[in-house]
Amino acid sequence: MANSNIPSPEELRKQVSDFLKKQYGDRVVVPPEPNKGGTSEEEVKQKPPKPDLNFDLKPSQLEAHLNNYVVGQPDTVEILATKICTHFNRMKMESRQTELKELVGNIKSNILMIGPTGVGKTYLIKLIADKIGVPFVKGDATKFSETGYVGADVEDLIRSLVHEADGDIKLAEYGIIYLDEIDKIASAGSSYGPDVSRTGVQRNLLKLMEESEVDLKTPHDLASQMEAAMEAQRTGKVARKRINTKNILFVMSGAFSGLDDIIQKRMNRQPVGFRSSADQEQTIETDAFSIMKRVKSEDLIQYGFESEFIGRLPVVVTLNDLDVDGLYKILQNENSTVIQGKKRDFNAYGIDIEFDDEALYRVAELAYEERTGARGLVSVMDRILLKFEKSLPDTDISHFTVTRAVIDNPQRELNQLVTKAALKKFQKRFLATNGIVITFTDEAIEKITDKAKKENKTFDQICTDMLHDYEYGLRLLKAEQFIVDADIVDNPKGRLEELIKSAYKGNF
Ligand SMILES: Nc1ncnc2c1ncn2[C@@H]1O[C@H](COP(=O)(O)OP(=O)(O)OP(=O)(O)O)[C@@H](O)[C@H]1O
Ligand SMILES: [Mg+2]
Repeated sequence: MANSNIPSPEELRKQVSDFLKKQYGDRVVVPPEPNKGGTSEEEVKQKPPKPDLNFDLKPSQLEAHLNNYVVGQPDTVEILATKICTHFNRMKMESRQTELKELVGNIKSNILMIGPTGVGKTYLIKLIADKIGVPFVKGDATKFSETGYVGADVEDLIRSLVHEADGDIKLAEYGIIYLDEIDKIASAGSSYGPDVSRTGVQRNLLKLMEESEVDLKTPHDLASQMEAAMEAQRTGKVARKRINTKNILFVMSGAFSGLDDIIQKRMNRQPVGFRSSADQEQTIETDAFSIMKRVKSEDLIQYGFESEFIGRLPVVVTLNDLDVDGLYKILQNENSTVIQGKKRDFNAYGIDIEFDDEALYRVAELAYEERTGARGLVSVMDRILLKFEKSLPDTDISHFTVTRAVIDNPQRELNQLVTKAALKKFQKRFLATNGIVITFTDEAIEKITDKAKKENKTFDQICTDMLHDYEYGLRLLKAEQFIVDADIVDNPKGRLEELIKSAYKGNF
């Protein structure tokens, strides 16, 4: 029997209803109970969603699409394109043929991606979600291990799929959840004793990876409760409150450092005669990435995953490290977000920026030294071009080519560029106002630049101040052109006086 202090659901509804009536009159009402009036959840269930997934891609088409963007990961691209295409095509078939019997214990193609930072893991999945037109949400497994309380967080991710799908629950149920740093929820292994919290995180994920219903509203979220109440009043229907995870594709990724040791040990344990030819050939290879490619479920279990968890990730792909050539190819790719991104940064100030090939190769070499995959490209590019990004918007420069010299000596090249632009601007203005072609010797330019730096003024300010009296003087002398040399920069007044004196001497 219910405690008399706690109201029954009916009483609670009445109390809330009365409260709302008092506050808002008839404008807001409590939504009808799910199975009384309106569209009940049961009814929704009886009519299985028939989403019109805009999805008629074939694996080869998706593969070709990905190859337009992704460099150096042919095997991964092939596997992902195939498995993900099949996943969606199958769901499409199953959603159309309602009489199709459900396969009990069916395992969907959830994916585990193993690979170092910045080699395209997230990028690939995002490209795929975009192409297919399903919502995509990215989360970080480390957050779960810290709190040791996973349920709410992972469920939040699933709720964000609905947000990404603009409230379209059916579409959200075909979304992709991407969980990064999954290797961080491997239990620390027997040497430290069982790692309860991380194993617990894995267990909590299991339910969602298979099939479960997630409440769209968190109990503490009053705003969404109110929203639902208003929506119900407007439409006379109760919106669905749950999202089913059956068709949601889970992609987990991580760098899995140390996994290569486990694989190597396993391979060494196998007597030579029993090794597969692939494994035998492997024993010669020593780099971590070719060893990682030999990963088997047992290695991942040894690494600290529950077998049930690994069992729900049937597709395992290993991504390659990117070498200098790979990085260079990324830069050369016309779809490269690194280059496109930089172009846009400068375009935002009305500046066109171009890169020559030698410069790109040098950027790739520098990026490789950072060991952060393609992320290194962005950081190298940012480091080199930051001063340009700061200074060029102050100039008239509207076009700029990044050369090898810019990469090797950005500050010097920037100074030259800015000086040249300032000079041109000054010359143009001088010609327009005085009708005189003015030029500067290299020495003069150097002196003006030094002076500008010392006095914290611009090139233009120095020239304008220095040559102010010359404008009148030269016009008086009807000069058509004039050369500024280093001596003028040192002693502008004296030289002008001399100039006028000698001119008048000649005339009179
Ligand atoms: N193989 C690749 N081909 C083309 N571009 C790539 C490739 N790898 C990475 N990039 C570029 O680098 C960016 C960062 O890569 P991404 O986010 O996919 O890294 P990641 O593998 O998920 O690394 P992390 O483990 O650090 O999250 C991408 O947005 C993309 O622009
Ligand atoms: Mg990533």
